[in-house]
Order: sequence, then structure tokens, then C-alpha cells
Amino acid sequence: MMDDKQDHERLKTELWGLSFKNPVMPASGSFASGREYGEYLDLNCLGAVITKGVAPIPWRGNPAPRVAETYGGMLNSVGLQNSGLEVFKREDLPFLEDYDTRVGVNVVGKSVEEYVEVVKGLRGHAVDFFEVNISCPNVKEGGVAFGVDPDMANLVTEKVKKVADKPVIMKLSPNVTDIVAIGKACEEGGADGLSLINTLMGMKIDIKTGKPLLGNVFGGLSGPAIKPVALRMVYQLYPHVKIPIIGIGGIRTWQDALEFIMAGASGVQVGTANFQNPRVMIEIIEGLDSYLKEENIGSIREITGISHQSVNR
Ligand code: FUM
Repeated sequence: MMDDKQDHERLKTELWGLSFKNPVMPASGSFASGREYGEYLDLNCLGAVITKGVAPIPWRGNPAPRVAETYGGMLNSVGLQNSGLEVFKREDLPFLEDYDTRVGVNVVGKSVEEYVEVVKGLRGHAVDFFEVNISCPNVKEGGVAFGVDPDMANLVTEKVKKVADKPVIMKLSPNVTDIVAIGKACEEGGADGLSLINTLMGMKIDIKTGKPLLGNVFGGLSGPAIKPVALRMVYQLYPHVKIPIIGIGGIRTWQDALEFIMAGASGVQVGTANFQNPRVMIEIIEGLDSYLKEENIGSIREITGISHQSVNR
């Protein structure tokens, strides 16, 4: 097991009454449950592990090809393939229990009832919080269908909150006109936090065949190319909600992470960058810690949302 430095006093973060070693965590779907990354980094040093989406029963996912490179990022259309709740409980949760990090379980469903089933099925288990995915653009039922309509987003939040024994954060889609309306609808439904953004819908054509390259035609764009959009949405939403925001979208350096924190994020998730550099989250944690030391800032909390001060817009 890798032995990375774990103690970064200035990065300690408190969310929903829970202490986190730092605000850095992997984005769902880029890290599985962390097993494969253990060779490259010590999972104990992450603020949390966010798992791949868990559905009540196994999902096969979408036809191949499922990924494609783009300028400054990638497209994916995996279709939330996963082994289902029972396998997750039997194999992934016991693995994660051996680590001293927070565990956020990403929850997916084709209907409101399916989200509820997963959250109910995990009651009493070693889970610290739930991240409810109402933003996957690659499935026909569930996913983004719930995340683009404030009433639906509110309904899913309410129903999940009723059965959850742990804090619930809702993962939002950028494929909307008004992110504030969706974020507020989730907050009103009882959400404990919001994570944003999921991927932007895109596509690629294979010029040899003249056909869409991805098996599912459309896919979700992630990576550095989407960072300005993600940052804008976090910045836009921050003044309108009281619950913590976790920023996601194209983060690959500590400077990127810092921008999200200054825009109002209490935590950050790193996705696509893990594929290029499996140690990127460690580098971000170390970089943030050095920045705080150099600037003589006692705690990361002091600069959360700082970019909103004295801005006239
Ligand atoms: O297709 C996928 O599995 C992607 C999921 C997501 O973006 O939430």
C-alpha cells in the first residue's frame, strides 16, 4: 500500500457534522471503489471516496464504443454499468471499511422507487453520505430526466431523504438553463448538499464511416474543457443556497481546485484527470496545503466563496 502524507491541518473540512481530512475526493465513475488505484495512492489520504453509481440490480450499460477522446477532455457513454446493490454490499463496502476515509455512495435508479431502494438497502451500513445521481446524460430512464426539472429533482430528493439514515447530496446536471432553480428545488426537498457539475452532452462523428462514433450516439463531455462552465455554475449557485456545494468539472491541478473553493465549493471532486495521472488527487492535496501555508491562511474554510466578496454584478 502507498504511504502518502495524511495530516494536513489547514485542509480539514467539516460537512454535515462529519470531519473530512481534506476537501478532495474522486468523482463518481472515475475511481470505481478505489481498489485499482490503491497501487498508486494511499486511499487513507483522500477526503472521501465517492463510489461508482450503485443501482438496485446489475446494469449492463451501453453498447461500445463507450469512450472517445476530444480536445481538452473525453466523451463517455458507459450507461452506468454496475454490479448492483448486493455485490456492492458484499465486495465494495467491506473493502472500503479497511480505510480511514469517508465513503460517499453514488446512487442511481431508473425510477424514484429505485433510488429509494438503494438508499434503504444501505441503511445501517458503513456509508457516510449518499450522492444521488440525477444527472447522467447516458441513460434513457432516470438520470438526467430527473435533473432537468425542478419538480422532479425536488421529488427525488424528498423521497430519498425520507428513507436515508445519512446525509444526502444531489448531483446536478449542467444541461439545464437555470442551475439555480434546480439547486434550490433540491435544497427545498431537504438535500444536505449539492455536487455539480456532471458531464455536458456531446458527440463525435467517425469520419471514416460518417456515423456517430459512440455506440449510444451521444455521450457526456468531461475534462479540462468543461472547467469554465462548471466553475460558472458553482459561482452562480453559491449565493442562492445555504447547503454545501461540492465542485466538479475539469479539475486537474491544485489551482483549479482553489478556483472552485473560491467560487464557493466546500469540497472538490476530481474525475477525468485520474485517468491521466492516478496520483493527481495527492498532488492537488499537497498543492492546496502548500498554498495555504505560503499565504499564511489557517484554514481552507477562510477562503471558501471568497470570490463573491465585493463583486458588483
Ligand atoms: O454513462 C455513464 O455511466 C455516466 C454517468 C454519469 O455521468 O453520471
